[in-house]
Amino acid sequence: MAEKKKLFIKTYGCQMNVYDSERMAEAMGGAGYETTETVDDADMILLNTCHIREKAAEKIYSELGRFKGLKAENPDLKIGVAGCVAQAEGQEIMRRQPMVDLVVGPQAYHRLPEMEAKIQGGVKALDTDFPEEDKFEKLKSRPKAKRGPTAFLTVQEGCDKFCAFCVVPYTRGAEVSRPADRILTEARDLVERGVREITLLGQNVNAYHGASANGDLTLAQLIWELDKVDGLERIRFTTSHPNDMMDDLIEAHGTCSKLMPYLHLPVQSGSDKILKRMNRNHDRESYLRLIERIRAARPDILLSGDFIVGFPEETEADFQDTMDLIEEVKYGQAYSFKYSTRPGTPAAERPLVDDAEATDRLYRLQALITRQQRELQDAMVGRDVQVLIEKNGRQAGQMVGKSEYLHAVHVADVNAKIGDIARVRIVESKTNSLSGVPSSD
Ligand code: SAH
Ligand code: SF4
Ligand code: F3S
Repeated sequence: MAEKKKLFIKTYGCQMNVYDSERMAEAMGGAGYETTETVDDADMILLNTCHIREKAAEKIYSELGRFKGLKAENPDLKIGVAGCVAQAEGQEIMRRQPMVDLVVGPQAYHRLPEMEAKIQGGVKALDTDFPEEDKFEKLKSRPKAKRGPTAFLTVQEGCDKFCAFCVVPYTRGAEVSRPADRILTEARDLVERGVREITLLGQNVNAYHGASANGDLTLAQLIWELDKVDGLERIRFTTSHPNDMMDDLIEAHGTCSKLMPYLHLPVQSGSDKILKRMNRNHDRESYLRLIERIRAARPDILLSGDFIVGFPEETEADFQDTMDLIEEVKYGQAYSFKYSTRPGTPAAERPLVDDAEATDRLYRLQALITRQQRELQDAMVGRDVQVLIEKNGRQAGQMVGKSEYLHAVHVADVNAKIGDIARVRIVESKTNSLSGVPSSD
């Protein structure tokens, strides 16, 4: 058999890109490639890119620049760009970095093997279509290799919300849900390969409405179907929009034992004026009331959020509204960003907040979040959690995993295997993790 070619994939951006990179590696496996961890021995380099903020997109061009030398040494080396920058700036990439051989958007990557054949013939390939066919079905043939205990599974892709700052509706396209039976088949396959926890992915995952033999399923109904899969121990989902947080999903957080008590529910801002200008279609009060209902269903749920500071026309008073909202909600985790202008989005035309001011707001917000996060984490000391063991720790007898609340937990002197769930008594809270010992209770 011919020796396999080597594919190096580097992934940027969100979890969906991580999932997509796995699918692309599998697709290329069928075209005679195996993955490698180092660029130096690669026959093909593929960057799976993110376009969400200017910095993320610009990074790709400097990264590509670094490959020039490699290509000079090895003219047979092929360089490809996939993901959201590919979708948004396909032609531009080819123009700015002529050594790029292939550009493929997030909806066309099942065509990678054909494109690879084309570039081997010396022709450049660019595909940023939104094809009719189901890329997930085209990628069906999966190797049966063993996997780690956690996996992502895309159930919904694209977004119809058009928040005024966001490129996702343009790069990922319109919202599409995958049929439930295909998701269940993929989930069972993952469990057979060793997966214990599945995180369902979608840009707007709680808007899921996938077809089934009994009509369309909501996300909660899909979760209940997954709940029946033997060997699957934990279910998570991300990312949700407040307006799609349906009653049955809130209820499932109280009643479905496999659904973990963690919810990422971005609000972006606490100011009604800014929320309106962001085209979020919800206000501060409705978000706070929603949080109350979720906490009524599952009092110990850990909430996480996304925030943008320095959105056009954000005043100090608007920013204070965001700080007050954070004080009120108490997040266990949050991601915060300085507003970044994205060409082609509605907010791109609007007057910017002074950059130094925006940076200062970001620091203040991050300091508050860090304090909250730490307080909630410190409150775990003395409590028992269930830890899904993901890997060995650095010290002898130590293993590392995640609590049901998604804390990283280091467990000392534990007699467990990767993939086991251990009951752990938390003894210490550190900057970004908890430490504990097996609990005898
Ligand atoms: N609903 C999406 C959000 C994707 S983008 C999801 O499924 O994850 C992730 C976060 O990036 C957003 O919640 C927002 O806080 C941030 N973001 C998006 N566009 C941005 C921009 N132009 N500038 C700064 N941050 C942005
Ligand atoms: Fe972007 Fe808004 Fe859609 Fe999230 S809901 S992907 S922030 S447009
Ligand atoms: Fe980035 Fe695209 Fe995900 S822009 S955040 S990789 S959907």
